[in-house]
Amino acid sequence: MATTQHSPRGSWNSKLGFVLAAAGSAVGLGNIWGFPTQVADNGGAAFILIYLVCCLLVGFPVMIAELAIGRKTQKNPVGAFKALSNGNKLVPLIGYWGVICGVMILSFYVVISGWTLAYVFEEIFYFLGLEAAAQYVGDLSNGFKNSIFTLFFMLLTILVVTGGVSKGIERATKTLMPVLLAILVILIVYILTLDGAREGVAMYFKPDFSTIDANLLLSALGQAFFSLSLGMGALITYGSYLNKKQNIVESAAYVTIFDIGIAVIAGLLVIPAMFVAQAGGVQIFNPETGALFSSVTLVFDVLPEMFHNVGGIIGLLMGITFFILLGLAALTSSISLLEVPVSYVIDEHGLNRKKSAWLVGGLVGVISVVVSYELYLIDVFVNIFNEIGLPLGGLMICIFLGYFWKTENALLELKDGYKNVENGNFSPLWIILIKYISPILIALVLITTIWSLIT
Ligand code: PHE
Repeated sequence: MATTQHSPRGSWNSKLGFVLAAAGSAVGLGNIWGFPTQVADNGGAAFILIYLVCCLLVGFPVMIAELAIGRKTQKNPVGAFKALSNGNKLVPLIGYWGVICGVMILSFYVVISGWTLAYVFEEIFYFLGLEAAAQYVGDLSNGFKNSIFTLFFMLLTILVVTGGVSKGIERATKTLMPVLLAILVILIVYILTLDGAREGVAMYFKPDFSTIDANLLLSALGQAFFSLSLGMGALITYGSYLNKKQNIVESAAYVTIFDIGIAVIAGLLVIPAMFVAQAGGVQIFNPETGALFSSVTLVFDVLPEMFHNVGGIIGLLMGITFFILLGLAALTSSISLLEVPVSYVIDEHGLNRKKSAWLVGGLVGVISVVVSYELYLIDVFVNIFNEIGLPLGGLMICIFLGYFWKTENALLELKDGYKNVENGNFSPLWIILIKYISPILIALVLITTIWSLIT
């Protein structure tokens, strides 16, 4: 794991340490809150297929690109693009864009993470029969309560980033990820025995291609970037702590596969849970439009229902373990979101780590309090910074790497840790993906979106 001290610059202790940290960044709310909600919102399995295509044809090659840029320059995103810019003034803008996206995404990310903490208490109060208290902490529209939990989560994030990413987190991730997986599987087995679950499974696996439109393409692409932590330099920053022995391509493959796996499994829990809740009388879809009532709060409306149905001490244990683990998964992601602007302030403005973390964290905290009260901002920020911002960042990274820094130089960097990089099928394939396929796909999706917005 990185000792996140700036000087001497930290490095990951082991191959596994890095893969886990990067997987920790990738696996988070994007998988368990974002993915299932997007699947439900976009008509089921057709979304999953497009999502997989986006992850494999765009996400995976861009992840390799980010890690290579980070390891080559050993710098934060702004510093990294400056170092490779040959004096070009436009190139570092890619890094600045990443820093802005990091700040804005984090400011809604911590609000949702705060909800996961609040729901740990909700489950406990419900178990104890304290209905009013349970309702209070479970009320997602209570701005004051949201701000308290949000700021607490922000504080945790700042403390981890201030102290350096400790061995504790590395060890914790190692044991907690398997527990998260086990809990998910147990819950899936349980949910599948309930009325209505079948309908959910059918929606999850039967693609309805008529739902594919420009909007779905953008959502899938944005979701792929968000879930894999791409497009804003988080993995440039994590790559900057990598040593030359690590095989970047192999590590990127593990992280991608792991991230997709957790999302697909989480969907198999949440989508059937929605239909079970619906069979139990909870309104999920608007009968007139067929659209979800509230996509932002879906997971928090549906899953506690299920834990309450299980009831007793088992229901309580399932509920609190689930929300604690979700909170931890969110924390290993939020630290990587904060690490981007913080490493920028340290490297480029000479502040120490502690001051930078408090400064940037404080700024994010202020924005997140506003978001806590005005929840519609979550949708607005998702649209601008996640769905458009991250793919735009990815597009610029592809163009930069393919036509400015050049794939030959990137391959030289990849050679460290992967001696035969030029011999197999990998390098010609990656070059085609990064120079042509990814940027063209991203550009087409962005252009279609902008077009549909203005017409
Ligand atoms: N990948 C994280 C998640 O799925 C979110 C994230 C996005 C983290 C961008 C870092 C950078 O929750």
